[in-house]
Amino acid sequence: TTGGSEAAKRAAGERAAELVEDGAVVGLGTGSTAAHAIRALGERVGQGLDLRGIPTSYGSADLAREAGIELVTLDDALPDVTIDGADQIAGFDLIKGGGAAHTREKLVDSAAKRFVVVADPSKEVESLDHPVPLEVLPSAREPVSRAVAGLGGEAELRGAERKDGPVVTDNGNLVLDCDFGRIESPAELGDELSAIPGVLEHGLFVGLADDVLVGTDGGVEERRR
Ligand code: A5P
Repeated sequence: TTGGSEAAKRAAGERAAELVEDGAVVGLGTGSTAAHAIRALGERVGQGLDLRGIPTSYGSADLAREAGIELVTLDDALPDVTIDGADQIAGFDLIKGGGAAHTREKLVDSAAKRFVVVADPSKEVESLDHPVPLEVLPSAREPVSRAVAGLGGEAELRGAERKDGPVVTDNGNLVLDCDFGRIESPAELGDELSAIPGVLEHGLFVGLADDVLVGTDGGVEERRR
């Protein structure tokens, strides 16, 4: 993912990892900021911390294995805390899915007792206006695009221009990035998107985040709901 300094992302990720208590089940987010938290958690495991992780993507599972974190699923345990990044943040409302992982992310983030968002300052805005990713069944692409147009948005198939074909999610589906311009009511738009047949999940995360940790080159700003 582009934008934001690596030092700021690392500061936020490492701070979030410090908050995890011994014996915790931790949801492991996707993306470059969450990756810093996963690596920092791996170091703490190396120092004797008892921890089990629930990954939100192939990527976070691979990284966790490399870091020496034992992995379990939502069938085994629910997360005490999930640490995950975001593509855009307005207050405590988020847009996620830049890594095409938002369906599993929303499952693991919402199942956690506490959902900690980690980000760098480039993610923060006054109001959300980033395209909203939708994970859609491959056969639903056209009807969903039309329904999105009916809501005033413009849907674009992610990776349509790629030589090896469009982006396919961990679950075997496609991603439509839907531009609605400035989103006045994220909760309302989220409900409308959820109601479209063939949409598995949208990338608006409203009312889920408990803490937002924004790394800066100088430290970490923490906001708690
Ligand atoms: C994955 O689908 C997204 O929701 C990520 O959490 C998001 O893209 C954040 O990634 P970076 O931390 O790399 O910006």
